[in-house]
Amino acid sequence: MEILKVQNVKKYYGKKENLVKAVEGISFQVEKGSFVAVAGQSGSGKSTLLNLIGGLDIPTEGKIFVQGQDISKLKRKEQTVFRRRNIGFIFQNYSLMPELSVYDNVALPATMDFRRRVDHTYIEEILKTLGIWEKRKKMPNELSGGQQQRVAIARALVNRPALILADEPTGNLDSRTAIDVMGLLKRSSKDFDQTIIMVTHNEEMAQSCDAILYIKDGKLMNS
Ligand SMILES: Nc1ncnc2c1ncn2[C@@H]1O[C@H](COP(=O)(O)OP(=O)(O)OP(=O)(O)O)[C@@H](O)[C@H]1O
Ligand SMILES: [Mg+2]
Repeated sequence: MEILKVQNVKKYYGKKENLVKAVEGISFQVEKGSFVAVAGQSGSGKSTLLNLIGGLDIPTEGKIFVQGQDISKLKRKEQTVFRRRNIGFIFQNYSLMPELSVYDNVALPATMDFRRRVDHTYIEEILKTLGIWEKRKKMPNELSGGQQQRVAIARALVNRPALILADEPTGNLDSRTAIDVMGLLKRSSKDFDQTIIMVTHNEEMAQSCDAILYIKDGKLMNS
């Protein structure tokens, strides 16, 4: 089954002499459960593409379907709910809530959704795998950058979203922890048939994925 379909998507920023063609006509589709790497130089359009797929930004042209749903057709409120239920984000900046503890940050997507029961056993398992269970009562500003990144990863996994969009999730981690995090993402993807789209600058990690999308100047190279 196809979970994501990107159709001739373009994203332009600015006007006239300030025009930036961040994404310039990208098309691809992704099967449910696959782990896809997005690679390419700095400024090639990787984060822009992820933001468009997640509905955080609107394409200048083209269409994006997530689980068959044209995300541009959703009203703002519907889009928020759709995102919370179906998509997990791991950003380059961690975007944690500063006034919530590690545990409450991770539980947040689950507690915000009245239809869901908060699965404390699962949260404990994720935090332990990520090596931050001991930090669960700390506030984000008491953690290192890498620890904050792991909290953001835990938060993205907690709802077991069908689609996970990860922007260099291991960028700030030492190689040992990065390998553990990759293992967790892979296992999560397998166990829950989750689709992961992950930006990475690490060639070895990219090679270990099911597919690699190489982006250059806003265009897909291998298609
Ligand atoms: N909000 C914005 N307004 C104007 N230009 C933008 C905006 N966001 C991104 N760009 C431009 O679009 C291009 C693609 O940026 P993007 O952040 O997608 O690159 P990237 O591939 O994620 O790079 P990196 O590997 O450094 O994170 C860049 O030239 C960038 O300057
Ligand atoms: Mg980026």
